Amino acid sequence: MTAKIRPQDLRSAKWFNNPDDPEMTALYLERYLNYGLTREELQGGKPIIGIAQTGSDLSPCNRHHIELAKRVRDGIIAAGGIPMEIPVHPIQETGKRPTASLDRNLAYLGLVEALHGYPIDGVVLTIGCDKTTPALLMAAATVNIPAIAFSVGPMLNGWFNGERAGSGSVIWKAREQHAAGEIDDDGFFDLVASSAPSVGYCNTMGTASTMNSLAEILGMQLPGSAAIPAPYRERGQMARATGARIVEMVWEDLRPLDILTRAAFENAIVGCSALGGSTNAPIHINAIAAHAGVTLENDDWQRLGHKVPLLANMQPAGIYLGEDFQRAGGVPAILGELIEAGLLPHPQAGTVAGQPLSAGAIRSHEPEVVRPVDGALLAHAGFMNLKGNLFDSAIMKTSVISEDFRARYLSNPDDPEAFEGTVFVFDGPEHFHATIDDPALAVGPDAVLVMRGAGPLGYPGAAEVVNMRPPAYLLKQGVQALPCIGDGRQSGTSGSASILNASPEAAAGGNLALLRNGDRIRVDLRKARVDVKLTEAELAERRAALEAEGGYAVPESQTPWQAMFRAGVAQLCDGMVLKGAPEFRDIARK
Ligand code: FES
Ligand code: MG
Repeated sequence: MTAKIRPQDLRSAKWFNNPDDPEMTALYLERYLNYGLTREELQGGKPIIGIAQTGSDLSPCNRHHIELAKRVRDGIIAAGGIPMEIPVHPIQETGKRPTASLDRNLAYLGLVEALHGYPIDGVVLTIGCDKTTPALLMAAATVNIPAIAFSVGPMLNGWFNGERAGSGSVIWKAREQHAAGEIDDDGFFDLVASSAPSVGYCNTMGTASTMNSLAEILGMQLPGSAAIPAPYRERGQMARATGARIVEMVWEDLRPLDILTRAAFENAIVGCSALGGSTNAPIHINAIAAHAGVTLENDDWQRLGHKVPLLANMQPAGIYLGEDFQRAGGVPAILGELIEAGLLPHPQAGTVAGQPLSAGAIRSHEPEVVRPVDGALLAHAGFMNLKGNLFDSAIMKTSVISEDFRARYLSNPDDPEAFEGTVFVFDGPEHFHATIDDPALAVGPDAVLVMRGAGPLGYPGAAEVVNMRPPAYLLKQGVQALPCIGDGRQSGTSGSASILNASPEAAAGGNLALLRNGDRIRVDLRKARVDVKLTEAELAERRAALEAEGGYAVPESQTPWQAMFRAGVAQLCDGMVLKGAPEFRDIARK
């Protein structure tokens, strides 16, 4: 370790050790002593390390961080630092109404204020459940004090009737079985609960596993940190190593903006494809990039990521779960296989370990779970960025297009990779649930289900509701999935090949607002286009009629934050960031 920082240069010295201002020093000092800290600890030239704590009783996915923080503290103290735990606004994916993603930007804002306004020299970011990872990385990039991310780790594998039951994923299967009358309420609850057998975040390659893995690929976690299941002993050992490393990073003055470079984000895009990562990743990674001063767009995801093969055989794209991923080597194995095939664009990108990303890479221990490139599960696993006369950008995860779906919709030899369907449009999830099973709606097997009013403005935070099941009467006839399009999001644990995150959303003037039941829509994956078969004139006429009625209606905000969020938020293609917020960057040095 090469020290660049002297004890008198520490940020916290301005609070606790300021020879120019003994009065304020005394004032700061006396209150931080009152719970038992000593002057030696606060004035002895030791870095003060924040532990940004995302765990709480409201946040079960991250709750285990309350325990793990003890080991993080041990590491900090052993390396000569002083730990201080910082509460982070709770973000629980499955518990927060109307949607947890509304709170990503709120938690980020809160942590920026805490890191900027208090005597913190470096910070451990306790990440896990979906939005906790981007929220904390956005804050770290903004303040730009030394920061290291630490995952809570996935749950143990879930099992039901001898089969792996993935948390978050099994509910999609269960609700189809429930709707088709194959299981009753008790069976439904038992099946869903079996998927979550321990502390930790979702054991599938949903948004949580994706974002935690990408935090490691971005270089913000120690190598091998992301995939260790929450209850494993290695998780606590990694907690201690992370606590020790952040103290060194303070002395080395190694900061987030040294690591979160364009090269790191390009690695993340490629890594996301190899992981079969969540469709929420472009939203969050684009947002982190914006806060790091790197312009990243959905076109970059298609350009760099679409043709990357699928290596992780994890649900929902594959069959395995978090413990299997760890046994195969986790993120270092993904990196090792990509590097072996020359597919990782920037193996030399820097990391919090102080070494290049490639230094932590290994070959897969279990080629069935983490495949080598020449045994990939799928040749092209990344996202497409679709455009057309309904929106400027929408993401499609082609790795989860099922054989059945491909045979039904994409296999016409005269029109390969394209299909047409009849629109059935829903204004929000409540409208969908209230009407989908009504036989009068007469949804046929050639239907395209469209969800609107579910974007950042329409359903503040953007709801994960685009993947819609077919009506019960079609499920009973064996139609397992219909094409879905929408301006909302989709759970990363869903295996549905939906067209998502359409920007601009209906509530922001997007043309999804103009659709009516019975319209014909064409999806052409070769051209990466989605178009409604209406002329410009017809669209303009419908637009004028809608404006005359006062525009696309959205429900009123229920809380002050919802109103503030709606007043200043960008669209999903731009990471749903608060407009103007990314310009506040590197504020520790200003
Ligand atoms: Fe929290 Fe999946 S719901 S990690
Ligand atoms: Mg989710």
